[in-house]
Amino acid sequence: MKLTVALLSLFLVASAVVNGEETEELPLAELCDPEICKLPNCRCSSTQIPGGLAPRDTPQFVMSTFDDNVNIINIETYREMLYDRKNSNGCPAGATFYISHEYTNYRAVNELYNNGFEIALHSITHRTPQTFWAEATKEDMRKEFADQRVQMAHFANIPLTAIQGIRMPFLQLAGNASFEVLKENDMLYDCSWPTRNFINPGIWPYTLHYASNQDCPIPPCPTASIPGPWILPMIGWIDQMGFHCSMADACFAPPSVNDENAWFEFITENFERHYKGNRAPFGIFFHEGYFRFNPAVRNAVTRFLNVVNNLPDAFMVNSRDVIEWVKSPVPVNEYKRQPCRQNVPTNCPFSSCGPLRATHTEEQFWMQICNVCPRVYPWYGNPLGV
Ligand SMILES: *[C@@H]1O[C@H](CO)[C@@H](O)[C@H](O)[C@H]1NC(C)=O
Ligand SMILES: [Zn+2]
Repeated sequence: MKLTVALLSLFLVASAVVNGEETEELPLAELCDPEICKLPNCRCSSTQIPGGLAPRDTPQFVMSTFDDNVNIINIETYREMLYDRKNSNGCPAGATFYISHEYTNYRAVNELYNNGFEIALHSITHRTPQTFWAEATKEDMRKEFADQRVQMAHFANIPLTAIQGIRMPFLQLAGNASFEVLKENDMLYDCSWPTRNFINPGIWPYTLHYASNQDCPIPPCPTASIPGPWILPMIGWIDQMGFHCSMADACFAPPSVNDENAWFEFITENFERHYKGNRAPFGIFFHEGYFRFNPAVRNAVTRFLNVVNNLPDAFMVNSRDVIEWVKSPVPVNEYKRQPCRQNVPTNCPFSSCGPLRATHTEEQFWMQICNVCPRVYPWYGNPLGV
């Protein structure tokens, strides 16, 4: 009898493989028990501070992030606003770039990497309509993100393992699919999932071993148990009419874009909700264009970052550093004494390539890269342009 059951289950497993892994049912995530789900590799979704620390002993992380392509125009802003900044502990300040491929200058990406910033993924195509992402399969997500990771490492000449995070275009989640792809590529985290219900107190990063209790403003959200990748929730800001904004440049009722002082106050108020609360990581999520067109906003953010860099218990870091801290939380006094993150610079042999024929448009492309020129413009399904 036992043997029959064993044989039968063997047969079932085998047939699932034959039918292809896409048809395999993932186990549904169950209720999270913090007694079972423990650091460093498992954490229930919760507003509790990791390690049971008191707020005053918790480092206030500040995550400054920028989305979309990196080019010779926006790199100027990044150079002026971010380079050579230091936190109060003497370590270089971080920021994260969620980069989409089209029009990206990979020499500029190499420069960002060599200046210690985090290079992360925002897809190869960033295509419309948004429903593509809502309905995306695991195979689509492999082609947009796993392939992009290889592409980024190749053209910017940076280590594959330096690339650990993704943000979905339009913050549109694809159910379980993107997280399965993170897991199968051993990637660390996703930073695409906004919340309205867990702003105050803020929700801390967690894993998907068990069911998330985070609200799902842009469905579908993952409901399967997917052990491995971390969720770095996007705790947005609250604007002047009380509306929630996931990205700081997409608020419904922000202060006037010409009023630097009002913007400085606006950022500070949002920051203080975290700093004087449970110190959940504070996000400054922008697109560079908003700064270029609104210099007063840019000045306000710069002033705010100067304030952060002088606070003894707040730190501007790369987003992946936040996850590393959550995995093994230490009190702020100990954190401050830790050695700074080390970055091994990589070179960028000069290549200016083009005109390159594209398969998705009639346009011809030029590419600035740190590798040999591709044959055609790299794209979905052909990330290296061979
Ligand atoms: C995610 O996986 C769970 C468990 O297999 C399943 O019930 C759910 O429908 C999946 N979500 C999507 C959007 O496919
Ligand atoms: Zn985008």
